[in-house]
Amino acid sequence: MDKAKLYSKHNEEQTQSAKKFFKYFGEFLREKFGKNSVTIIDIGTGCGRVLVEIFMTESQLNFSKVVGVDKSQAMVDLAIKTYGNDHIYFHLMDIQESIPRPMKFPEFDIVSSFYCLHWVQDLPLAFVKIKNFLKSDGIFCCVFILTHILIDIWNELIDKYSPYMNNWRGNFNYICYLENADEIIKKMLRESGIEIIKFIDEKNDMFNFGTKEFFTASLEAVNPCLKLMPEQLKNEFLHDQLDVLYNLQKGKENPFDVKRRIFYFVGRKNLNSNIIE
Ligand SMILES: C[S@@+](CC[C@H](N)C(=O)[O-])C[C@H]1O[C@@H](n2cnc3c(N)ncnc32)[C@H](O)[C@@H]1O
Repeated sequence: MDKAKLYSKHNEEQTQSAKKFFKYFGEFLREKFGKNSVTIIDIGTGCGRVLVEIFMTESQLNFSKVVGVDKSQAMVDLAIKTYGNDHIYFHLMDIQESIPRPMKFPEFDIVSSFYCLHWVQDLPLAFVKIKNFLKSDGIFCCVFILTHILIDIWNELIDKYSPYMNNWRGNFNYICYLENADEIIKKMLRESGIEIIKFIDEKNDMFNFGTKEFFTASLEAVNPCLKLMPEQLKNEFLHDQLDVLYNLQKGKENPFDVKRRIFYFVGRKNLNSNIIE
């Protein structure tokens, strides 16, 4: 995801879910960490807004070191420019690749990952890495999106835009499409050495994009295929995208109010597990 500037202005959906995470688990985190100083690493931090403006404030914890990592250089650059200081750092890191040297050994009180892991193909490997980042009593905080109208829309457009979209479905982890994704992800976590503390499966989570402009820009910010299309075709695609949305939402009072399935959960390192990367 390279549209860092666009994403930084169109992440209301992710922001709303992050706020919901703290409605569910804020008290748990405050009970756990109290006034202690806390270190955190955020995987797939994007432009850093959710980490700095939501996590750091809504959690009401006392952060001594904050690290955001992302595989997109554009996102990391924007995050550094917007939020970087002498205790908030951002680094380039792909959770599916080997961990860069300076990041290899540190352990954190909290590992968070919001709206990122659905892009990751090898989830068990990512979970083992996340477990390795945790201190022995650390907490993993996760918001994991599974289904979204954008998936249905882009699926409808695959044939027409096939040279540019052939593989887009492969960008999402296969569990996103499965009804029993909750069972699968819980098993993956267990087998990677992460014990679930609390797990919420929101099957009817709603988000209202409000206007067609905001809807279009929000989807554009996360679309990995658009950059492959010639400019003229891109405009046609954005137009078609709206047509498909109106069709899918026919009969609904507000076509921009869409349903998603999201997992909100917290876990801890299972100290009896000896799985390593
Ligand atoms: C939708 S954004 C979410 C950003 C932020 N967490 C938020 O809630 O606003 C997903 C981010 O995950 C990053 N990402 C995707 N796959 C990744 C991977 N394998 N390793 C690290 N970051 C990844 C993308 O580059 C993108 O910035």
